[in-house]
Amino acid sequence: MSEFKQTFNSSLGKKLIMALTGLFLCTFLIVHLGGNLQLFSNDGGYSFNVYANFLTHFPPIEVVAYLLYLSILVHAVYALVLTIHNRKARPVGYASVSKSKVTWASKNMGLLGSILFLFIVIHMSDFWYNYKYTHSVGYKEYRTDLATGKTTWVDFTPSTTDFEKSVSVVNDVEIVRVKDLHAKVAQSFSNIYYDVIYVLAMCVLSFHLMHGFQSAFRTFGWVHKKYTPIVSFIGTWVFGVIIPLGFAAMPIFYYLQTIIK
Ligand code: HEM
Repeated sequence: MSEFKQTFNSSLGKKLIMALTGLFLCTFLIVHLGGNLQLFSNDGGYSFNVYANFLTHFPPIEVVAYLLYLSILVHAVYALVLTIHNRKARPVGYASVSKSKVTWASKNMGLLGSILFLFIVIHMSDFWYNYKYTHSVGYKEYRTDLATGKTTWVDFTPSTTDFEKSVSVVNDVEIVRVKDLHAKVAQSFSNIYYDVIYVLAMCVLSFHLMHGFQSAFRTFGWVHKKYTPIVSFIGTWVFGVIIPLGFAAMPIFYYLQTIIK
């Protein structure tokens, strides 16, 4: 077996792959949160729907998306393999464990990761799968007066089932017709039980990332007096607080809108 293959089949190699895929997933979450912030725009879902259409029709992004699905699978499978391997190698727990680095999250990464994996499966089947592969998502027509910038919108029914998007300009009015994923998101988030699941999943995400982000750097051996506190700060505040809070704010915002209406 080549040295390269041997490294990646060893426990350290598997941990390195988990760290690499984990950091890639962290990067995705920043982009995903940034894009989804458009759910807060008061424009009838116009910017969000155009963005969702762009994501699913721009070939370079589609390639990155397949890398993302692969990373989720590899990260989950390697976590499982490493857990089984560690249990076999150490059937009896440690007699004493250094308390300094052992947090509740670090001891429960497998459980937290499994819950997140389940969340991702439910989440993708509801939004991503329905958007791409079923006809359960409707359409909207947006008319923007190019002189005033004012946009109005109505539901729209295309004449063909494979319609995705069209843009035209008539009498200084831009007409954009596009799949209405925004309505699907709003409909899902109008359900309180669904929102509770989302908010709880974001608590799980917070614990998983707070430990996972910093742990990836330790796996790479990047431990440094000056830089480790920065990694720890980013892990705690960006990945443990801001990102999960940003995601949790979306179902809460949509639920509040349904009860205020
Ligand atoms: C409440 C917050 C969230 C909302 C509103 C949301 C919304 C969406 C929507 C509408 C899609 C389909 C279209 C798109 O790709 O943008 C999607 C895809 C996806 N979401 Fe989320 N999401 C949220 C949180 C999360 C979290 C926390 C994770 C991971 C832990 C996640 C993982 C994914 C993945 C892996 C996809 C497929 C990506 C792709 O194919 O490009 N989402 N999300």
